[in-house]
Amino acid sequence: MVVRPVRPEEQAGLGELTVDVYRRVLASELATYAEVLRDADARLAAGCEVLVADVGGRVVGGVTYVPGPGPYAQLIEEDEAELRMLVVDPADQGRGVGTKLVQACLQRAGAAGKGGLVLGTMPAMTAAHRLYLRLGFERRPERDGQIPGGAPLWCYSRVLARASTSSRVGTRSPM
Ligand SMILES: CC(C)(COP(=O)(O)OP(=O)(O)OC[C@H]1O[C@@H](n2cnc3c(N)ncnc32)[C@H](O)[C@@H]1OP(=O)(O)O)[C@@H](O)C(=O)NCCC(=O)NCCS
Repeated sequence: MVVRPVRPEEQAGLGELTVDVYRRVLASELATYAEVLRDADARLAAGCEVLVADVGGRVVGGVTYVPGPGPYAQLIEEDEAELRMLVVDPADQGRGVGTKLVQACLQRAGAAGKGGLVLGTMPAMTAAHRLYLRLGFERRPERDGQIPGGAPLWCYSRVLARASTSSRVGTRSPM
């Protein structure tokens, strides 16, 4: 399995996968957020990196890395990067794909000299919460927000050491 940037011909499929996986977890809470999740092209146009997990040429998951403040930054504070829209196809979950996608974001944030990687997640996303805690993120309730439509957004963040970050990120992972 490799984590790499999405290819143009994969963007629509990744958008559909993202909506489908979120729907399974959030059901009615999704509402108008589905259109935001579907539009991988808009994320790239706004300067985000859209990464996919590729297993033998098949896209089984994806994540959006937000490098700093901008239209896709929900919870970023000064000198942080943000992770968004992490999904893994249900058929491929439980094999470390999600872990690798989050580690790829940690690597990017570390290499860019960011002070931390932050993310927002919803209360029902319990598998994701375990993953984040395993990878050294901390729950930050004082920074919680809301998604468009008003549903709650729980904040998790991982502080990154500024010196030799790229060699240190991801070391807490079991993978
Ligand atoms: C959150 C999500 C991306 C995790 O993806 P994943 O590929 O299943 O993640 P991982 O495989 O790395 O970890 C999941 C579990 O598999 C286990 N695992 C990982 N590699 C494994 C392996 N080789 N063998 C056995 N188990 C393994 C992990 O220990 C973990 O166990 P736990 O959930 O009991 O703690 C996925 O569940 C998902 O798409 N959820 C819905 C969308 C969502 O909530 N996104 C978060 C947005 S903030």
